Amino acid sequence: MNDFKLKKPFRHFLDLAALKPDEAREIIDKAKILKTTATEKGHGKGFIHPDRPLADKSLAMVFEKPSTRTRVSFEMSIHQLGGTAIVLQGNDMQLGRGETVSDTAQVLSGFVDAVMLRADSHESLLEMSENAKVPVINALTDFSHPCQVMADVLTFEEHRGPIKGKKIAWSGDGNNVAVSWIHAAVLFDCELVLACPKEFCPPTQVLEWAKNNGGKVTLTHDPDQAALGADCIITDTWISMGDTDADERIAILAPYQVNKKLMRGAKDDSLFMHCLPAHRGEEVTDEVIDGPHSVIWDEAENRLHIQKSILLWCFGK
Ligand code: CP
Ligand code: NVA
Repeated sequence: MNDFKLKKPFRHFLDLAALKPDEAREIIDKAKILKTTATEKGHGKGFIHPDRPLADKSLAMVFEKPSTRTRVSFEMSIHQLGGTAIVLQGNDMQLGRGETVSDTAQVLSGFVDAVMLRADSHESLLEMSENAKVPVINALTDFSHPCQVMADVLTFEEHRGPIKGKKIAWSGDGNNVAVSWIHAAVLFDCELVLACPKEFCPPTQVLEWAKNNGGKVTLTHDPDQAALGADCIITDTWISMGDTDADERIAILAPYQVNKKLMRGAKDDSLFMHCLPAHRGEEVTDEVIDGPHSVIWDEAENRLHIQKSILLWCFGK
């Protein structure tokens, strides 16, 4: 029996829907502390957490899709916590030549202490988690992007205090990031109004899940209605990695652009967030993304701090 590397207890980080509200809160609050520690030390490129809490840990980072923020923030996170990372492109691995995800999971479990996966399909992530003997982290799939939305919640709270009871508006494609925001609205007890065209709504079962779990999540086709009185307006690219119908998407999603007119409906001190990369002039105008409401650079940097907290949570630290 090949269980010599069984390293339980550990926790997978697959989706926010699988977390309890107090676990999600613990991750956010620890990220705030980790950020303070790093900032106090100047968090220069050589920063290493004084306790080196992951000194004996290694992370395999597997990418089936491109990445800038996720790749750099995870690699720097484990490094700054005292551990090491190996970055693997799916196409350079035997995975790209047909080795199964489950066999890959078994093999990686013998070499490293955790696996981070950015997968083309959510099924691959689940297959990895079912067969790995180490924690598996969702670094984006076609279904969800939980690490991103945890960084978004952290960013919101840094600027505006507790997110509980606040109104968050989403305008655009009901994509993977929108799905994780629906999960987050339930976990953190905020109101979420999503404005999406009927062609690109979030999956019905996710909206049902929110309803069944007491979430204040509503769907509209009217971006002005979503933005009205919002504490934060969020959007994302209209063409996610793997989408092939670009022309159709641009035409259908055009009325959902976040521009100055849409922002005017929100609160005067409303934030603007975008996970990046942005397609300026499509889902958001330069005026908004570079304007006074935008917190996109803090949001990107916070990927580093939240990633550390997620890694520690996975290892039960
Ligand atoms: N927001 C985000 O996940 O960015 P990358 O695709 O660059 O990792
Ligand atoms: N929805 C986007 C997010 C990129 C970070 C995508 O999946 O491409």
